Amino acid sequence: MQIARFPRLRLAQLPTPLHPLPRLSRLLGGPEIWVKRDDCTGMAGGGNKMRKLEFLVADAQAQGADTLITQGAVQSNHARQTAAVAASLGLACHVILEERIADTDEDYAGNGNVLLDRLFGAELQYRPGGTDMAAAMVELAEQLRAEGRRPYIIPGGGSNPVGALGYVTAALELADQAREQGLVIDCLVHGSGSAGTQAGLVVGVSHYRLGFPVLGISVRAPHERQHANVLKLARDTATWAGCPAGITPDEVLVDAGYVGPGYGVPDERTLEAIVLTARTEGVLLDPVYSGKGMAGLIGRIRQGEFTSHQRVVFLHTGGAQVLPAYRKVLDAAAADLPQVITT
Ligand SMILES: Cc1ncc(COP(=O)(O)O)c(C=O)c1O
Repeated sequence: MQIARFPRLRLAQLPTPLHPLPRLSRLLGGPEIWVKRDDCTGMAGGGNKMRKLEFLVADAQAQGADTLITQGAVQSNHARQTAAVAASLGLACHVILEERIADTDEDYAGNGNVLLDRLFGAELQYRPGGTDMAAAMVELAEQLRAEGRRPYIIPGGGSNPVGALGYVTAALELADQAREQGLVIDCLVHGSGSAGTQAGLVVGVSHYRLGFPVLGISVRAPHERQHANVLKLARDTATWAGCPAGITPDEVLVDAGYVGPGYGVPDERTLEAIVLTARTEGVLLDPVYSGKGMAGLIGRIRQGEFTSHQRVVFLHTGGAQVLPAYRKVLDAAAADLPQVITT
């Protein structure tokens, strides 16, 4: 595999930090927990999409695009990061937002990522939940083309083989850092949605024989669907990147037990994970992705899945910019949950 032959823009601040979470580890009494800080990729407040956008937007520029089109849920982090990249390169940006969650309030509608999309100058359009968003983007691209623009469509979450290359390289970055720091990784855990992050990691781990499992905590889909989505994208990415070996189903590990009531709706376990991580480590998670990922890790530690000699890396994929959109539920959790005082 020669990733260097793919066009790439340098947008993210890399490598992102890798460090232990000693107080959270002690509180849980399980394995040593480390965190890989992809919430610190830089532009627009950071997050996992920046690695994918390095390849996607380079491809857009190679094709002569002057406009980026993408889609996501109303509070999409991917939309925010795409809007910021477009702004930084002088490209127009159109985002179609799906009203995927029922019963939202004015914070959800206008604060958090929506506010930031607007600050970055993106053109926002809304569609009801359940809309065929891929078709909506194709239709918009046709309209823009008729107006003389040169649009480039980025799929939701930046999750296609081009975008997933960003996480093939991230797997190698993590392995290099772990080696330098004397860390032997027993498991890598993260929140998994549109599957590009996990698919890229699985390809990187498999191809470079990095020797640790990648566990995706599903934030939306049930187990069978998420496993199939990740496996398909990992296989497509491996083919695209020229990896001869291919990916087997057992290389894709999914836990769909922490979705809770549904996409974008945090349950008590996710709210506890957010508060515990904030109060033990000063690290901000979010209620849609990284909080569910951490809830999954905490839940599995409490079930005794890891020994105290093991070392688990939590990939922090970002998302804290959404917190103001969830003000009421987070305010209540902050009041309900106890202070965490450990030495
Ligand atoms: C903060 C955050 N974490 C995790 C994910 C999931 O990544 P992926 O869609 O590549 O599975 C996303 C995707 O939108 C995200 O915004």
